Amino acid sequence: SGEPKEELLALALEAARRAGDLLRDGRPADLGVAATKTSPIDVVTEMDIASEKLITGFLAEHRPEDGFLGEEGASSEGTSGIRWVIDPIDGTVNYLYGLPSWAVSIAAQKDGETIVGVVAAPVRGETSHAVLGGGAFLNGAPVRVRPAPPLSQALVGTGFGYVAERRAAQAAVLGSVLPQVRDIRRGGSAAIDLCDVACGRLDAYYERGLNPWDYAAGELIAREAGALTGGRPGDPVSPDLTVAASPAVFEALQPLLEDLGAWHD
Ligand code: IPD
Repeated sequence: SGEPKEELLALALEAARRAGDLLRDGRPADLGVAATKTSPIDVVTEMDIASEKLITGFLAEHRPEDGFLGEEGASSEGTSGIRWVIDPIDGTVNYLYGLPSWAVSIAAQKDGETIVGVVAAPVRGETSHAVLGGGAFLNGAPVRVRPAPPLSQALVGTGFGYVAERRAAQAAVLGSVLPQVRDIRRGGSAAIDLCDVACGRLDAYYERGLNPWDYAAGELIAREAGALTGGRPGDPVSPDLTVAASPAVFEALQPLLEDLGAWHD
């Protein structure tokens, strides 16, 4: 079906705004953990569930033929060729603790390719977006990646999964990366980390084990801002490995991650 990307973008922005308002203004003072997933530290709150319900309800009302993939369980194929990939709170642990870096991440994919990405971080007062081929924006202003420094001067973001064995493997890789770069940041929201690459606040970001809802929107935003993005050598971003960086940093970091076997547990 012929849906203008601009219509999808407008819907994604509005859904993210509504969910962001709900999450920021409606966060219970005594917010607790509603359930755990892959491990005892992989948590879901009532607000993750409420946010996903709001977003899927709003989008389905406007586009009943579309499919959905959401972190909290939304999963349907749809018949239009468009699928929405949704993280209702990326950075759930930050949200649980009242730290500011959490986001609502919404991507629209057409036949599997991301064509629209929106990442709204309400406490930071920032919404990033991109449309395939149309550049990347932060609060409506165009953004570009930072001019690449040598890897030894690069500020690199990363993150960790929730399962102990994988975390140990990620820590070992990080132990080899850290002495070769300026410094490391662990922001707690992959979506925001990717937007921080897009607007030049990080030179690079990498992580093993993300899910599509964590990276779909942010990867497009980083790429549209001039980042190179990829996964295992020669592959696109995938749950095995997500890398996004200013081009020259990418060219140095990806071989290092390959040498270190960063996609193995
Ligand atoms: C998590 C965040 C975190 C990353 C984890 C993700 P969630 O997403 O993006 O930065 O390191 O791997 O699972 O669970 O808060 O939606």
